[in-house]
This record gives sequence, structure tokens and C-alpha cells, in this order.
Amino acid sequence: MLETLETMMREFELKLSAETSRAEVLNIKSHYVGKKGPLADVLKGLKDATPEERTTIGARSNEMKTIMIAAIEAKLTELELAEINEKLDKQWTDITDRDAIRDRGMTKAGFHPVTTIQREIEDVFISMGFEILDGPHIEDEFHNFDALNIPDSHPARDMQDTFWFADMKHLLRTQTSTIQVRGMESHTPPFKFVGPGKVFRCEETDASHEIAFHQFEGMMVGENISVANLIYFMKTLLSEIFKRETNVRLRPGFFPFVEPGFELDIECQICGGKGCQVCKHTGWVELLPCGMVHPNVLKAGGIDTTKYNGFAFGLGLDRLVMMRYGIDDIRLLHSGDLRFAEQFAEF
Ligand code: DAH
Repeated sequence: MLETLETMMREFELKLSAETSRAEVLNIKSHYVGKKGPLADVLKGLKDATPEERTTIGARSNEMKTIMIAAIEAKLTELELAEINEKLDKQWTDITDRDAIRDRGMTKAGFHPVTTIQREIEDVFISMGFEILDGPHIEDEFHNFDALNIPDSHPARDMQDTFWFADMKHLLRTQTSTIQVRGMESHTPPFKFVGPGKVFRCEETDASHEIAFHQFEGMMVGENISVANLIYFMKTLLSEIFKRETNVRLRPGFFPFVEPGFELDIECQICGGKGCQVCKHTGWVELLPCGMVHPNVLKAGGIDTTKYNGFAFGLGLDRLVMMRYGIDDIRLLHSGDLRFAEQFAEF
């Protein structure tokens, strides 16, 4: 009997290793470990065996069953992986390779305008010595609120309508300022970095509001950083983006994580400051909230406030894209509408 079992095991191993289809592997499974399979037959035959045989054969057949099931599971995973890899190999296209795109019958491709602007701004900051950081979309209260000087009871929590997870502890980040907190955790001053990304707010949508949009955060911490440093970097950024000297003005603005906080306005790029519909006839457009980092924020980030200070800003990318390309509804950006996307096809 033991001999029969061992022969069956060898046969099983041979069959399984030669198999390349998942359906066939499942057949092998039901044949060998199923109720009517050879293993079950051996077990049934045990009633006529001696007590010693029953113990050894019973133990061995149980062991075999476990080994067989594990081997089948491993084989199924292996085949599934091979299938996925084959698909990836066949379907993968280098979207920056024009010829490859044409070969696949795709005639138009290009970057989304938000990606284009994000990359341009990243390049400007890289050239000024900033590092680019990333952060998760799903955050905790600490990184989105507490560490940014917005405690639980603070009315500023209501300024941003938040998508909470059911545990009420996790959320979709409402601002890229979370990246400031993560950046302070992983860096020691002096440092300067930027963090672009998607943010989420639970709001009604209209032509200028969307539940998911894009921000570009920045932070610089060192010794004796001043508002003049902040203005210098912001002016350089805007001149690079708009390809000309851009007039800016600072107004006081309130954000719990900065003190003093500012709203940086730019001269309206549509009318050149004369006044039009877009700037509501003021000649100025609100673009860039910023300020000197609040000491509580630095402390939460483990930074010695007797030695260091800094500035931070949070640029809204969507508004910038809309100004540059004359897009009058923010919802188009996330619409997935090919008629919209195709207008940005570069090749
Ligand atoms: N996180 C703010 C918002 O989403 C924008 C912001 C304001 C970011 C001031 C900053 C800042 O870094 O200093 O409304």
C-alpha cells in the first residue's frame, strides 16, 4: 500500500510539473485529492490493514495530501504570474517612443496639461537646488492637521471639507502641506524641497471647484530665512512659468501653519492687469498662499526653533493650467474626455 502511495506521488509530481494550463492543474487537484481519487481509495482500503499499517499509511497519506495541496497552490500562483508577465510583455508600450505608438495604431499622445505644468515647475525648483518629495494620498490626522497646527477643536478643520475613512482616523489628504510634515521628519535643516500632488475635498463641484485637484507645496528651512527670500523664490518661479517678469503683490492671509501668512496675487495674465472677467476687474488673480512657517509646525517636525525658521507655500496647479490654456471649467481636467485630452497631443 505504501508502495502504491509513493508511486502515485511520483506520478502526481510528474504530471503537475509538465502542466501549463491552470484549468488542467485544477483537474489534477480534483483527481488526486478529491473524494474519488487514488488517495481516498488508499484511505478506504485502510479498514482491512493491520493497526501498524494504519498508523504509518494514515500518517503518510495525510502528509502527502498536504504536500499535494501546497504544490498545486504554488503551481497555480506560478502560472498566474507567468500569464500576467506575458500580458505585460505584449501590452507594454513606451509612451514616449513615437514609433512604438504609431506601430500600435495610436496616432495621438501627449501629457496631460497638469503634468506638463507640474514638470516645468519641478525643473525650475530643481535648478534652484530644491529636492522633489512625494507623499501618500491616504493620510492620518497627524500629518494632515495636528502637525500643521490645526488641533482637533480648531475651526480651520472645517475650512477644508474632508473625505474621512470609516475609522475616522484616516483621510484623503486635503492639502499637500502633509508633505511638509513628512519632509521635516526625514530631513535635518537646512533643507529646501517641493512636493507636488493630488489633493481631495468633499465639496460640491462647479466650474472652479473639483473634488480632486492639484497642489504644489514648497518648504525652505534654515537660519535667518526672511520674507524677502520667500518673495525672491516666488517671483523667480512665476517669471519662469509665464516667461516674463510678473508683477506680484502680497496680502495678509490666514493659514494656521504660517505666521505671518500671505496671499500672493499675480497680475492677471489674461488682461495684463487692466481688468477683465477673469480677474473680476481688479487686475489681480489670487494664486499662491504662502508664509513664514509657524513655530508650532517646526516643533512638531522636530526642528529647533531657536536656531531655524523657514517659509512655505502651496501653489494651486489647476488654476495655473486654466490660465495658461484658457480653460474655463476645472471639471474638464478630470473628465477623461478624449476631445479635451486630444487638444494637448504633442505627437
Ligand atoms: N495648504 C493650504 C491650502 O490647501 C495652502 C497653503 C497655504 C500652503 C499656505 C502653504 C502655506 O504651504 O504656507 O489651502
